[in-house]
Amino acid sequence: MKLSTVIFLSIPALAHAYQLNNLTTYANCRSEATTAGSVVKQYHTGDLIDIKCQVSGQRVFDYAIWDKTQDDCYITDYYVDTGVGSNYVTKNCLYNGPSPGPVVDDYRYKGMCDEVDPWNFYICQCVSFVAQRINERQGIYFTNRYKGFEWGNANTWPAAARNSNVTINTTPRKGCIAQHSRSALGHVAWVHHVNRKERTVVIEQYNVVVHQYSTEVVPWDAFDYYIHLDPKY
Ligand SMILES: *[C@@H]1O[C@H](CO)[C@@H](O)[C@H](O)[C@H]1NC(C)=O
Ligand SMILES: *[C@@H]1O[C@H](CO)[C@@H](O)[C@H](O)[C@H]1NC(C)=O
Repeated sequence: MKLSTVIFLSIPALAHAYQLNNLTTYANCRSEATTAGSVVKQYHTGDLIDIKCQVSGQRVFDYAIWDKTQDDCYITDYYVDTGVGSNYVTKNCLYNGPSPGPVVDDYRYKGMCDEVDPWNFYICQCVSFVAQRINERQGIYFTNRYKGFEWGNANTWPAAARNSNVTINTTPRKGCIAQHSRSALGHVAWVHHVNRKERTVVIEQYNVVVHQYSTEVVPWDAFDYYIHLDPKY
């Protein structure tokens, strides 16, 4: 056989070919991750759906993950057969480098204080900012009902962590959550960096300056606990 007779077929490959699940026969793919977004495309049973990345958006049946597809539109993951139902299958569209990521005020919900974020925390509160960090930097679908427990205000996070079998101790690591209950509702912050020699942590947080982002360097023991959602710890 002469090489010239070999025909190379080029089949456009979909990186992650998903389909609609059996909860629906069609679903709209929208300009934004909310049902208020305009319809860009409609998928039907059997259509292949390539998920480029995922974001948190409007909750659909209490489920906030939306998939950005090959058509550059967003479909609620509630109707996609990602087979997980409770976690991301690929990276966040807003991913800003691996955990702990850069120190930057990239909070998504500025100016919407007192509304509720996609994870069911009040916007502009410390818990909402930390939830954004966990979702985007750690790729964990963390909500106010993570593992079926109510995480609630920051003062109830240690109990929720224990109930959820999430590691909680007094040793910080970068990319963990710092928690204290000195104030009535407690406080949580994102640990960006740990200085073991000085026994200090560099934290990012919301609502220490009212409804604002801030960073601080504080002694380890300024916090009661460190919560390690990463299953490695
Ligand atoms: C729909 O899919 C789920 C999950 O794959 C499966 O458990 C269920 O039996 C399916 N239901 C129908 C009616 O096919
Ligand atoms: C936590 O671990 C205990 C003991 O292994 C187990 O019984 C329980 O179901 C676990 N809870 C969760 C939420 O994973």
